[in-house]
Amino acid sequence: MTPSDLFPMPTLSRRNGTLILEATPLTAIAESYGTPCYVYSEAAIRAAWAAYREGLPPEAGTIHYAVKANSNLSILRLFAELGAGFDIVSGGELERVVAAGGKPETVVFSGVGKAVWEIERALELGIGAFHVESLPELERIATIAHAHGVTAPISFRVNPDVDPKTHPYIATGLARSKFGVTLDEACLGYRQAMDHPALSVVGVACHIGSQLIDDAPLIEAAERIRRFVEELADEGIRLTTIDLGGGIGIRYRDESPLDVAQTLRRLRAVFAGRPERLAVEPGRSLVGAAGLLLTRVEYVKIRDDHTFFVVDAAMNDLMRPALYEAWHEIVPVVDRPECLPRTGDVVGPVCETGDFLGLGRTLAVAAGDLLAVLCAGAYGMTMSSNYNTRPRAAEVLVRDSSHQLIRPREKREQLWADEFALLPNA
Ligand code: LLP
Repeated sequence: MTPSDLFPMPTLSRRNGTLILEATPLTAIAESYGTPCYVYSEAAIRAAWAAYREGLPPEAGTIHYAVKANSNLSILRLFAELGAGFDIVSGGELERVVAAGGKPETVVFSGVGKAVWEIERALELGIGAFHVESLPELERIATIAHAHGVTAPISFRVNPDVDPKTHPYIATGLARSKFGVTLDEACLGYRQAMDHPALSVVGVACHIGSQLIDDAPLIEAAERIRRFVEELADEGIRLTTIDLGGGIGIRYRDESPLDVAQTLRRLRAVFAGRPERLAVEPGRSLVGAAGLLLTRVEYVKIRDDHTFFVVDAAMNDLMRPALYEAWHEIVPVVDRPECLPRTGDVVGPVCETGDFLGLGRTLAVAAGDLLAVLCAGAYGMTMSSNYNTRPRAAEVLVRDSSHQLIRPREKREQLWADEFALLPNA
């Protein structure tokens, strides 16, 4: 069995009983930075990027990394250097991209609730396109652009009403979801935009959902978009870009994930002969399998016939299991052949029954041992919180046998530094 059969992470292996990310033992990371700690492999990110570039070379389209998946400045800078654009959903993410050296003109701005200040800032910086999610939003963007004497580049985010067959919380392309506009609304919107001097029509965008492990819904959405683009062209509304969003899934447990390059080639085939450029907005499939959460077992608590592996990471660090009942593989960092395997729940110290990282796991570990929670590079740190006044974890980037802190663990005092302890009324 090769390491990649054992672990869904491409650059993780076990040597002499110890987990190694690229050429760095995870024990060394825990020693240097403590736990809990997010650890990312640069080589794994580069490999995931290479698969995207293979399926969508620069002459065929652009790749906009979905910042929400992992927004650490070092990760964003790496993507900027690889030639990625960025998909953002807030003014905060826009500033991160700029701080990391990303170019505003490569940015597309999605999201259903763009505030006035966010639109103003995006116009000031000159982003590539607003992905408009409603007709009132089109009006707001037009008014602001007109007031500032600039032209706003816009695409409509359409909702093709395709079932992505994924977890309901991350399905976005159904008619009942809050995202995007219907094809009819978009048609109306394009006509309005064509007539407005402060708007320039760039293209069309869609994103039907996340963690897709079958490409049929993606292809179906693409086919609907193609028919729609042809109808618009018949009306004289010509687009330059067709953005198919993100959504390609990864293997967390036993899923057979899509072949990224092949999926992209299939999507390109749907648009064969059309002059528009393609764009995609991947998040998870670029960083998910590149990262893990390193945690230490505090106690092995045995009550009647139930075992709890109480660890120092919790739902505030990795929310996916609590929120989506998501599965993350959990493996000991150091093999302990002398230790008796037990089956139990891997839980954190947070005061919630939903605070678990994995249920019913068989592990041969004792208090003090390290565990690695795999495939936590996407939607891990970015969804973390300070619940229970817990500082956010440290983040470390591994490059072969070297490792670098890319965000220190938060200091406890930081967590209340901006609060006021008002005197109660006497
Ligand atoms: N574009 C748009 C407009 C999106 O809303 C998203 C993700 C993406 C691109 C990137 O999708 P990806 O390639 O990562 O699937 N927190 C959830 C995932 C939420 C995804 C939200 N939108 C999770 O942990 O599974």
